[in-house]
Amino acid sequence: MIKDEIKKLITDKTACIGIIGLGYVGLPLIVEFALKDFPAVGFEVDEKKTADINAGKSHIVDVSSENVQKCLDGGRFHATTDFAELENCDVVVICVPTPLRKTKDPDMSYILAAGEQIKKYARRGQLVILESTTYPGTTDEVLQPMIEEAGLKLDEDFLLAFSPERVDPGNPQFQTHNIPKVVGGVTKDSGEAASFLYSQIVDQVHFVSSARVAEACKLWENTFRAINIGMANEMAKVCNALGIDTWEVVRAAATKPFGFMAFYPGPGIGGHCIPLDPHYLSWKARQHGFDSQFISLAEQVNSGMPKYVVKLVSDALNTEKKAVNGARILILGVAYKKDIDDMRESPALSVIDLLRSKGAEVVYHDPFVPEVHFDHAYTIGAGDPLFNSNLTDDLIKSTDCVIICTEHSGVDYPRVLQLASLVVDTRNALNEELRDGSKAKVVRL
Ligand SMILES: NC(=O)c1ccc[n+]([C@@H]2O[C@H](COP(=O)([O-])OP(=O)(O)OC[C@H]3O[C@@H](n4cnc5c(N)ncnc54)[C@H](O)[C@@H]3O)[C@@H](O)[C@H]2O)c1
Repeated sequence: MIKDEIKKLITDKTACIGIIGLGYVGLPLIVEFALKDFPAVGFEVDEKKTADINAGKSHIVDVSSENVQKCLDGGRFHATTDFAELENCDVVVICVPTPLRKTKDPDMSYILAAGEQIKKYARRGQLVILESTTYPGTTDEVLQPMIEEAGLKLDEDFLLAFSPERVDPGNPQFQTHNIPKVVGGVTKDSGEAASFLYSQIVDQVHFVSSARVAEACKLWENTFRAINIGMANEMAKVCNALGIDTWEVVRAAATKPFGFMAFYPGPGIGGHCIPLDPHYLSWKARQHGFDSQFISLAEQVNSGMPKYVVKLVSDALNTEKKAVNGARILILGVAYKKDIDDMRESPALSVIDLLRSKGAEVVYHDPFVPEVHFDHAYTIGAGDPLFNSNLTDDLIKSTDCVIICTEHSGVDYPRVLQLASLVVDTRNALNEELRDGSKAKVVRL
């Protein structure tokens, strides 16, 4: 039986693991397998990333170059742009992007491209696993027929499963090995083989009855986050309107030991997951005649946050008898979240776009991001690139307003408070203790 054949290769650590896409998801995963002594090949379309990885350089914050080098040294791991090597792989895991089209429909082109390569080099005996976040049905509706076009039969010649990736870049507590892994096969054998594989590198595998359950599980998790962040953003606006301290309210609510989970407001949502994934679910639901209203509402609230932040800035400047037009504004933190360099869908881009469109002169400081470009589809309009400014005393003093968009740990907030005249803090980076006795006027979300 093919399941037993693959399990034996896994047990013997002779199963060659191929990972397609070496980004935030694929690189940590392949390093995990290689460090556990599995022969591993990473497939990339980006030649620079491939060359860097083969030179022992990691481009992902959570993966140390030291570990990449350790894998290379063993001679059991390398990256390549040559997909013909897929034929040598017993396991193929797909970790390619799943963005949205401009219409907010799923962009399946990356999964299809990976599927085409798998089909081209498919042979009997392979276990294929999709990890890219996608709508329920992708694994069996899209990938299965593609592989079958190579003349192979599911369960007889190949196995096929879905296992969502839950990695949280920049989270020092939870990394690949200690995040429970949900696994569902298109068939029972597929699910069991895939579960056995992951049990080699993660502490806990949660087996579900189908690939569709596993696909839906990931979208449920991220839709839960998007909706709860939307609710926190709405509550922040309500609290502001009522003159109540939002952050004190959340802190108090979070003391309830059951039935409450704290989510926090911010300038909007970013990254490759939370702003996108719920659309995969609502798109699929629409195909079945269902309109998911919570998802639409959360999207509306969350995507409106940059405008709300700019309104806070404009109102705050107004109290100083200043206008946004002509104001010099310093953005602190442009990555979409704390202590990482990921700019994808970052709300800071929209905040900057909006301010510049109103005539503000914007500069930024982010220890993780050397430059920011505005020619991506995720920003409101195109504009000149910006380059990281050093957080000098002169810079802080010369600005009319500082906006904290991302609360990176390494920033000297007490100094900002000491030297700035006005700060709009969208992340509660300036807690009570820091604000106490500060000269700056602070407006918080
Ligand atoms: N970033 C996260 O925190 C996170 C967390 C959980 C799940 N996910 C999901 O995992 C998937 C991958 O996300 P990511 O953040 O790693 O993306 P990424 O952009 O960091 O990495 C994807 C990599 O795939 C490469 N690639 C694109 N097409 C390819 C192809 N045809 N063949 C080989 N390589 C190809 C790209 O060059 C890139 O290096 C997405 O579906 C995402 O939603 C991401």
